Amino acid sequence: VDSSLDLKKEIRKLCQEKDAIILAHYYTTGDIQDIADFVGDSLALARKAAEADAKVMVMCGVHFMAETCKLLSPDKTVLCPDLTAGCSLADSCKAADLKAFKAEHPGYQVVSYVNTTAAVKALTDCVVTSGNAKKVIDSFPADAKIIFGPDYNLGNYINSVTGRSMLLWNGGCHVHEKFSVSEIVKLKAEHPEAVVMAHLECKAPVLAVADVKGATATMLKYAQEHPETRSFIVATEAGILHELQRTCPNQEFIPVPPEVSEGSLGCSCNECEYMKKNTLQKIYNALKEGWPAIEIDADVARDAVKPIKRMLELS
Ligand code: 13P
Ligand code: SF4
Repeated sequence: VDSSLDLKKEIRKLCQEKDAIILAHYYTTGDIQDIADFVGDSLALARKAAEADAKVMVMCGVHFMAETCKLLSPDKTVLCPDLTAGCSLADSCKAADLKAFKAEHPGYQVVSYVNTTAAVKALTDCVVTSGNAKKVIDSFPADAKIIFGPDYNLGNYINSVTGRSMLLWNGGCHVHEKFSVSEIVKLKAEHPEAVVMAHLECKAPVLAVADVKGATATMLKYAQEHPETRSFIVATEAGILHELQRTCPNQEFIPVPPEVSEGSLGCSCNECEYMKKNTLQKIYNALKEGWPAIEIDADVARDAVKPIKRMLELS
């Protein structure tokens, strides 16, 4: 007997009892995506959080995503099944360091990737995601002085496509930084017709060889709109394969293995161990106990919500 079946039933029952919805990111495991009310990329999840009318939201993703939900829906209970589900990218920018950097650069506006803590967002003028970064940056005057962080690769890419020279924070995602051109070249030799898709958190050489570059939702949309393309080489966290394969069952998706070097952080796979901290059991526990719930300091929340709302208005 598959015990996860009962757990799935129990979770759905609890959702009804508690007027709760489950939001999940594409990087969570397939069993979680299957029971979620909504699965999306960071941008779609933020939009959903802003408009949801359920009393309780269970955010299956990482901590900053649950914080974003709470900032946009402060009157709702936002449950985060595992509060230790962090993000190496969000960790690479501490609020105190950003504050000091801002002080050294008067006249600069701060544009932050959504993968940041609420405290960093409170120091930010406008938030972006991978799905809207170019559009949002294009809305700034051409001569605007911008500090962009914390993802260096995303900022570098946006600089290259907009001709700007934003000051870049030197942060990165430990999962996406492990993708290399050499692994893609090997796969391309075996699958010459395959279209290469890469997330904007990948390094510049990887983005240079990718045919499709963007957020997780960009890759899904492209595959869904190109049924004639039989195979794809995918350079992002492996959780996305679940939705790619579910919605495009007749196309083949080949995950790029990471290039593992000595001393590299995290697991030697293309999975985000933080996203994988979400489990059906923890979702069940969170719904049952109403805990762990996200709480944000009121002063931080007041300042942090503004740049997120600005992003939603612009995109
Ligand atoms: P997306 O906004 O593309 O879903 O990316 C979120 C993320 O954490 C990528 O590592
Ligand atoms: Fe953060 Fe990277 Fe995990 Fe995305 S994949 S949540 S950027 S650590």
